[in-house]
Amino acid sequence: MIQDPEQWNRDREELDAWKDVSITDLVVHIMKRYHRETRFGMAELEGYAEEAALLEGHRFPLFLQIRDEVDLFCTEMRGHLKMEEVTLFPAILAKEQGREVQVEAELMDPLELLEDEHTAAAGLLKRIWHLTQGFKAPEGAPQIQKELYKACQTLAESLVRHVYLENDILFKKIG
Ligand SMILES: [Fe+2]
Ligand SMILES: [Fe+2]
Repeated sequence: MIQDPEQWNRDREELDAWKDVSITDLVVHIMKRYHRETRFGMAELEGYAEEAALLEGHRFPLFLQIRDEVDLFCTEMRGHLKMEEVTLFPAILAKEQGREVQVEAELMDPLELLEDEHTAAAGLLKRIWHLTQGFKAPEGAPQIQKELYKACQTLAESLVRHVYLENDILFKKIG
């Protein structure tokens, strides 16, 4: 899903600056930028996927398949965001701020679980990536297909950065 490995190397260097930032600031950044981007991105993607299925699905069953995969991805991802927001992030913030942490002993398990969920989410997105030939609309594709694939690409780029910040920076800081 990474279109340009050199660009990703540059992005990773930029993201690595978050290694030197406090855990609280990193969590706030993940929430404010990436959870928000994911929610907006999913809303946009679902809209395009439904529209493509409705308008072109009778001619191109591919759009029905994409719509179903998008539904599945978004359902799983919403559950994942919620789990981080109600379980993991509050526990991390409480610990950082020296407040009582009820779930501290259980923190390690959720971390592994959340990493598994990241892998699962990437797997679901990869299925959409295959169905859409790498999010690349063919020459002369209907406008809705172009918009749909662009929305997939935008969401995937945000997700790659988001998961990197969590798996490789946040979880390592607290693990
Ligand atoms: Fe997250
Ligand atoms: Fe996550």
